[in-house]
Amino acid sequence: MSLNQNDNPYRNWHYEEDPDGIVWLSIETADQPTNVLTHDTLDELEDLLQRLAATPPRGLVIGSARDNGFIAGADVKAFTRLRSEDEALVLIQRGQAVMDAIEALPCPTVALINGYCLGGGLELALACDYRIALDDPKTRLGLPEVKLGIHPGFGGSVRSIQLLGVLRAMDLMLSGRSIDAKQARRLGLLDYVVPARQMRRAAHDTVLARPAKARRKWIHGLMERKPLRPLIARLLRRQVAAKAPPAHYPAPHALIDIWEHHGAATAPLFREEARSVARLITGDTAQNLIRVFQLQTRLKSLGDRKAFQPRHVHVIGGGVMGGDIATWCALQGLRVTVQDPRPEALAQTLKRAQQLYTRRFRAYPLLGVAAGDRLIPDPDGHGLKHADVVIEAIFEDLDAKQALYREIEPRLKPEALLATNTSSIPLERLGEALADRSRLVGLHFFNPVSRMALLEIVRGTDTSDSSMERAMAFARHIDKLPLPVKSSPGFLVNRILMPYLLEAVVLYEEGVPKEIIDQAARDFGMPMGPIELADTVGLDVCQHVGDILARELNYEVPAALTTIVKRGRIGIKSGSGFYDYRKGKRVKSKPPVFEGSIQEVQDRLILRYLNEAVACLREGVVEDADLVDAGMVFGTGFAPFRGGPMRYQQQYATALGKRLREFSATHGARFQPDAGWAS
Ligand code: NAI
Repeated sequence: MSLNQNDNPYRNWHYEEDPDGIVWLSIETADQPTNVLTHDTLDELEDLLQRLAATPPRGLVIGSARDNGFIAGADVKAFTRLRSEDEALVLIQRGQAVMDAIEALPCPTVALINGYCLGGGLELALACDYRIALDDPKTRLGLPEVKLGIHPGFGGSVRSIQLLGVLRAMDLMLSGRSIDAKQARRLGLLDYVVPARQMRRAAHDTVLARPAKARRKWIHGLMERKPLRPLIARLLRRQVAAKAPPAHYPAPHALIDIWEHHGAATAPLFREEARSVARLITGDTAQNLIRVFQLQTRLKSLGDRKAFQPRHVHVIGGGVMGGDIATWCALQGLRVTVQDPRPEALAQTLKRAQQLYTRRFRAYPLLGVAAGDRLIPDPDGHGLKHADVVIEAIFEDLDAKQALYREIEPRLKPEALLATNTSSIPLERLGEALADRSRLVGLHFFNPVSRMALLEIVRGTDTSDSSMERAMAFARHIDKLPLPVKSSPGFLVNRILMPYLLEAVVLYEEGVPKEIIDQAARDFGMPMGPIELADTVGLDVCQHVGDILARELNYEVPAALTTIVKRGRIGIKSGSGFYDYRKGKRVKSKPPVFEGSIQEVQDRLILRYLNEAVACLREGVVEDADLVDAGMVFGTGFAPFRGGPMRYQQQYATALGKRLREFSATHGARFQPDAGWAS
């Protein structure tokens, strides 16, 4: 094949032929910041492969022209434009055909992977004879399609099972988790893991040497036998059932069904894989999960990293939140000083940080050491004057916070951003202590900081645009999803969550077993029930936030919550709350007897949630309905397959509104439909 880079007609692929006759294709998806397999990219690749098949080179290496990664997957935007199952099938079969064309080339083929290699990207790599990846923690491989309500469709389910055996391949596909290069090498997904300077050489030598290709082990072949498949399928179904009930998340179950019927026998499995994805992708679950993915992309786009380049963060208050915020910021590459007068708080912070870094950087321990070096205990606050961002996370007390602001303001760098992690004090009140109120924003982190993706960015009346812009950029620098919210009681997430939690306590007071209340919420699709959640957050915290919101928004905190806190049962951290715990794990109890309607329990919980969501939207706590959904999905795990509370509310507005009115007649004013239902 003769084609010079100079007259390269392709928009998405760089082409190069080296003196040894090896062709190097590097992807750079046009008009996108990350490489994805768009329609155009696949079209061009198909064309390139046809040319290569006509005059085969000595070898083909497919890599990326971008430092930030290989291929992040298929083009999710295209999924939302699909109008029918048939249309979806055509798209998927085309993808399969391109991967088949790579596999069919008579020359050796190598995928040269740096950074993310996910979904369709890994499917492409699996169609190559060899896979070589960069030895770097940023290298991540995975088949996360289940998170979008589908499963691999470009031959990836077949090829991964053929290469790794059903158990390992299914583990990747059913969990959707991504793994680093070293784990991938151990699993057999990669042939070589090499440092940057050897990447090109490794690919080149592999083409020339043509080492024996990785093959699955005999035991994996045995598992494909017909009599064994139903047993393994049952095992797999049991593994996914708890996290992904078939009615809510059909994709993992569809994948297991297909394999059970066909094994990894190539032709029928390819056919069924495509049909199944076409069916799934046009269904409600996938469309809602794709929507959630797009909401995530939208939140990411709200923060422009280039707008602000923070290097040093100073955290004041090294308690539960401050300690974890400092730990997290250092993990993300920032230099962090953490100030607290209590040495034991600083010692605790360092201990928890060490645990997190060891876990996170198991395969790259030196990076864990480096993160530890960036986290500096600073009891006297020397870091304050160097900081680009100062985060205050001391006790929730207006006077204490104001006194602190008065003391620190003269020592801040002129351009430093001052942020508070307050969960309930209006920014306007806090700002009274400042000469320059425009620099104060709320950065409302959620507990546990390392696991919660959302960060509410609170705008007070005096907060300047530039402070908001910098706060949102900062969120992206520390890999959080920024959600701009108005400074109003409870902001968005706690405000919507609280009536739902309190309704759970009312139900409990009425005698509904706590297990039933939790089950009703989980049946709806919540990751955990409200009673479990309250125990996890801490009942003292719930009561505190509940009291404030009840006062501001005119509702009541049920007596059972106050009583249980008074008895010292404040949740998991005290060993008991509504449930009992031993070593942080819930003590199992007998399944309760309940003769009432679990549907009614669920409706009451969910309707209070939705009613508050509608109120927040009407009041403009966030800008639009999509941001309500994004906040509640990423801040509380609201049933993602339903697309978010507002999406659900809008989809079933008439029926839900009717039920709400019924409840307001039977249970009183707390179910009074918010004025927003009328719009
Ligand atoms: P905490 O009580 O665990 O920690 C507060 C820390 O601040 C203590 O270690 C204390 O020694 C230190 N401190 C007090 N005054 C100080 C001062 N002048 N200078 C330096 N350090 C000082 O409290 P927690 O739970 O970490 O809360 C902190 C803030 O975060 C509060 O505003 C709270 O509302 C907010 N928040 C708490 C959440 C939670 O789940 N606990 C969630 C989100 C926000």
